[in-house]
Amino acid sequence: MSMTFPPAFLWGTATAAYQIEGAVREGGRTPSIWDTFSHTPGKVEGGDTGDTAVDHFHRRAEDVALMAGLGVGAYRFSVSWSRVQPTGRGPAVQRGLDFYRGLVDDLLDHGIRPVLTLYHWDLPQELETAGGWPERDTAHRFADYARIVAEALGDRVDMWTTLNEPWCSAFLGYGSGVHAPGRTDPVAALRAAHHLNLGHGLAAQALRSALPAGAQLSVSLNPSVVRASSQSPADLDARRRIDALANRIFADPILKGTYPRDLFADTGALTDWSFVHGDDLAVIEHPLDWLGLNYYAPSVVSAATDNRPERSDGHGASEHSPWPGADSVSFHQPPGERTEMGWSVDPTGLHDLLLHYTREAPGLPLMITENGAAYVDKPAADGSVHDPDRIRYLHGHLSAVHRAIADGADVRGYFLWSLMDNFEWSYGYGKRFGAVYVDYETLARTPKSSAHWYAALARSGVLAE
Ligand code: NOJ
Repeated sequence: MSMTFPPAFLWGTATAAYQIEGAVREGGRTPSIWDTFSHTPGKVEGGDTGDTAVDHFHRRAEDVALMAGLGVGAYRFSVSWSRVQPTGRGPAVQRGLDFYRGLVDDLLDHGIRPVLTLYHWDLPQELETAGGWPERDTAHRFADYARIVAEALGDRVDMWTTLNEPWCSAFLGYGSGVHAPGRTDPVAALRAAHHLNLGHGLAAQALRSALPAGAQLSVSLNPSVVRASSQSPADLDARRRIDALANRIFADPILKGTYPRDLFADTGALTDWSFVHGDDLAVIEHPLDWLGLNYYAPSVVSAATDNRPERSDGHGASEHSPWPGADSVSFHQPPGERTEMGWSVDPTGLHDLLLHYTREAPGLPLMITENGAAYVDKPAADGSVHDPDRIRYLHGHLSAVHRAIADGADVRGYFLWSLMDNFEWSYGYGKRFGAVYVDYETLARTPKSSAHWYAALARSGVLAE
């Protein structure tokens, strides 16, 4: 039986500025923490950097035409903060804003709805030098930047996301150090998490006042679908701890205006959380129009048997844990199929996630702002690129979305990660997530068979069995 999606369901693809743009020194842009990090030896595989990335900054029109050819209805992209506000404070640089205005105009000309993310991990280096996300001031700087972008693009963008995956910014950036800025301080990671939450709330206020009525606000979280390896009390407690640190630490303040009590207890030996000020939670709990969820793979945990501090959809191993106060937890790789990232293929996790947030945030529409897989893709002799594994991955996960909708989840759209192969953070260019293949020698783009498959789905809204 084929599966029909709701008529207004938004079919999109997603990217992020540092992963695709390149042109890191053009138009007044200054370094972000990812420029600094990727240029630090040993931080990114192969010494790869985003200096050129896939040169989207110069190939914007070609890339929008590519999307139009595929017939997708929406495009989720991010703005590079240091391209529009180079020092992270003060006036905007018009040339930076012009790039995004041009991009949005190109998208609208082709009938593609822009979905703008303000922060996809590339903090201006100057703000990190001043203390970064562990410092409260960064949240205020973020709100100022949000207002600048809203005033420049609010007349033509109506779907706005504050942060992408704040868990990664806080715990990989400041805890395990596998992401920029590469710090390994558990207290800094917890402070960063709170100031990201506060930044989200302050930015949401700024957006609401600067944007026309009807603009939609959101945040994109990457909750860990975390399962206990047994029903023993110790393993269930391990699950609870990771659920607090990966999920409730963001979802509770944003959706309910509270921090989990057990989180405070679990991390009490590290910090008294006095960096949470009186009104912060009221600011953070700003009404949203939809919740963005990024999903790749579930995690399985137990009480520690050995110490493997990575989540199963992790972004690189480190001797430093990204889990403050949870040294007693082990992560396990579930058996079965894996993608090239080593992440397990398990669409039931996406179904569970959608139903979980349906219960957690009744009435709040959900959007899958990322889902996809890395595989080894190689052009055939005739230049075409066949990626049947990715089609199977997408088919399985979209079937799970369809099932979740049937079970009551209000899912409004799906954004395939990614439109095209790009800079996969600490893995560099070695991991390909794109529906479009990029030849890194020539930067030529070739839609893979998954792109054609997804295009047909986006056009019909019907997923064949
Ligand atoms: C999460 C991030 O938002 C995105 O930047 C990254 O490339 C994908 N997941 C895959 O790891």
